Amino acid sequence: MASICAMRVALIGFGTVGQSLVNVLHEKEAYLKKEYGLNIELVAVSDIMKGSVMDDDGLDKVELLKLVAETGSIGAYPKGVKGLSSVETIRRSEADVVIEVAWTNLETGEPGITHIKEALRSEKHVVTSNKGPIALAYKELMNLADENNVKLLYECTVMSGTPVISMASNGLAGNRVKAFKGILNGTTNYILTKMSEGESYGSALKEAQRLGYAEAEPSADVEGWDAVGKTVILANTLMSAGLSPNMVERKGITEVTSEDVENAEDNGGVIKLIAQAWMEEERVKAKVSPELIEFDDPLANVTGAMNALTLTTEGLGDVTIIGKGAGGVETAHGILSDLLAIHRANLG
Ligand code: HSE
Repeated sequence: MASICAMRVALIGFGTVGQSLVNVLHEKEAYLKKEYGLNIELVAVSDIMKGSVMDDDGLDKVELLKLVAETGSIGAYPKGVKGLSSVETIRRSEADVVIEVAWTNLETGEPGITHIKEALRSEKHVVTSNKGPIALAYKELMNLADENNVKLLYECTVMSGTPVISMASNGLAGNRVKAFKGILNGTTNYILTKMSEGESYGSALKEAQRLGYAEAEPSADVEGWDAVGKTVILANTLMSAGLSPNMVERKGITEVTSEDVENAEDNGGVIKLIAQAWMEEERVKAKVSPELIEFDDPLANVTGAMNALTLTTEGLGDVTIIGKGAGGVETAHGILSDLLAIHRANLG
């Protein structure tokens, strides 16, 4: 058998996504060694609420998960350097990869932008699920990654682990994306689906919150900001658009009434919050808005919290990918696929 490579990772953020990732890494340890020749060692965890611990000899994943489940904190972890801030952790850790899964801020991108810059400057690869930094500072961060000869990967910022970015950049390589249209926000799709089944907007939103789809501040979902962030990320990655969130026309679903939803059926379709980008006079335009989607469009059948994206390509016409767009385990798998991409690139 080929030799096993070690990859040391530092985790910034230990909420739902961070904990799901540590669990997935633990459960897949033997599989990753056997199938990919990769041993992923966790060498630091830092979270503003749950505490911080760093040990370059490796942390015990099960112990960390047990501690946080039982006490809400990792402060009582028996070994390592404790109490470092996220930035100190990034600077001082000997990690090869920093995994940035701190909270998203779509207005400032912080603290994610600072975390990612620190990591790239200290020549560590970065994998992130954080939409804010990639939507707001894509070019600057990618340039910084190039200057420092490291990678910045962000598959799960859009559609969590459903591999839309790698599908477009690898599977569709050489095949220009001319436009896209998709359902990129699970919360609003869930609400609209429930409204079409007769439920009220308010109770559907509450249920979406209970199920953990909605952002901490759900106006980010229902006013369309979350979908705008994802649209910008896709447009900049797949179409070199150079967009920022304020260049995207935006309308959320707060003004969609039960009547609108019922009338849509009579008009041959369903209402969906659609994120789209297209070329107009050599420039990329983008918008997020509720639209009537006809029943024969693949997007019409995407219900509940599912996401979907149709890419209109030069050589293949329309290609649609449908899959889960939120959730801890789903996002953890997007992060894992980015870690494996770094591993493959390092193997040459
Ligand atoms: N609040 C987001 C959604 C979570 O509903 O899609 C995933 O980005």
